[in-house]
Amino acid sequence: MVLMEAIKAPRGTADILPESIPTWRRIERTAEAWFDRYGFHEVRTPIFEATELFARGMGEATDVVGKEMYTFVDRGERSLTLRPEGTAGAVRAYLEHRLGERLGSPTRLWYAGPMFRYERPQKGRQRQFHQLGVEVLGSTSPLVDAETILLAVDIFAALELGYLEVQLNSLGCPECRPRYREILVVYLEAHRAAYCETCIERTATNPLRVLDCKVPGCRELNRAAPDIQQVLCEPCRTHQDRLLALLDVAGVAWKLTPTLVRGLDYYTRTVFEIVSDSSGLGSQNTLCAGGRYDQLVEELGGPPTPGVGWAFGEERLALLLGEGTGSEAPDLVLAPLGEAAERQAFLLAHELRESGVRVELGSGKLDRQIKHATRLNARYLGIIGDDELARGELTLKDLAARSQETVSFGKIAERLLSQPIAAPQGLNGAGRARALD
Ligand code: HAM
Repeated sequence: MVLMEAIKAPRGTADILPESIPTWRRIERTAEAWFDRYGFHEVRTPIFEATELFARGMGEATDVVGKEMYTFVDRGERSLTLRPEGTAGAVRAYLEHRLGERLGSPTRLWYAGPMFRYERPQKGRQRQFHQLGVEVLGSTSPLVDAETILLAVDIFAALELGYLEVQLNSLGCPECRPRYREILVVYLEAHRAAYCETCIERTATNPLRVLDCKVPGCRELNRAAPDIQQVLCEPCRTHQDRLLALLDVAGVAWKLTPTLVRGLDYYTRTVFEIVSDSSGLGSQNTLCAGGRYDQLVEELGGPPTPGVGWAFGEERLALLLGEGTGSEAPDLVLAPLGEAAERQAFLLAHELRESGVRVELGSGKLDRQIKHATRLNARYLGIIGDDELARGELTLKDLAARSQETVSFGKIAERLLSQPIAAPQGLNGAGRARALD
């Protein structure tokens, strides 16, 4: 007999298993609550888009467009790409559906979902990963930069992520950046021999990215490279000063980081990253990243419209938060013994669910059902055997308190809802409160 090899998930992807779901839900519910408070509207865009959208939006010279896109030609001969990020798609949808007119300006959008990049997988870096992101379109004000950064800080504080650093820089504008680029290229050319292969390549294609190089020798050279902060034009400087003052007012600590350049081409002025010092993330310690992109909308064929936004990677947050201790536990496992009891339990389970109780219907021998209820971390086990059926009652075992009582079928919902039920770990009570509201 030839044994077929089982098919595994593709390299760089991961199944998010039931035991991790409470953590993921907590991240998403917390973020969604804060998006609502800040007046953001959710938008859901396609997983694949015309390849040109990303090539034009993110820039041909970026690693993402040059090397990391999942691009394919469909049966209609169109070149399509699995989205490597959310900004380009959100901006396309904003233009296509005139969201500025419908939602007012500035337009605040948020999105969530899988993104795809052909990168070398490692801890915190996958080929399919998940982002939650925001984009604000239609305002040049540093108030909007400050507000979006504070939103990320609020979400991370609500998730109790511990110490995080907000690193900031300005990449200037079409007025001052070309000047900086020139000065930088002169420096890079002068030290060409000492830079790595990639940096030499980038000196010609995307010189600012050289500042991002992680090779120790290049980092050392970059320390003495010209500082963009010294070259910013007056309006860019004022923009940054106002942003920093607003962050100060909100008590957000920031660190000006002149080597922060980001990997995507669309940024102007503010760029920022929120970085964790936790050793659990290894080198992939950037939780959230973003910035301002005042030219992107025009590049994608729209009217001049400034924008600012960020995205965070859910995998990295989930790694920091750790796993929950199990998926949401049922309030009650109903254990019928025999066919008549099964009918009664089937009906009762439905009635209880309509009242908001989480019920799992068991089957088989009693000891198996007890084991099952214990493994699920259920609070109660309800037994219906011949005696119970005859009396119209349930034997209710409180698995946590190790006590037992009998309750008539008609009173069970009332009995379960009257007593607060301990929240399963990893949920902070939020999920349970909703279930029993
Ligand atoms: P990004 O820096 O490419 O920016 O990604 C943002 C975040 O997504 C990263 O900080 C990281 O947490 C997560 N991430 C990125 N790549 C991976 C990966 N391969 N595996 C796991 N997590 C990853 C953007 O995508 C921009 N669209 C952000 C933005 C929005 N800028 C303006 N608006």
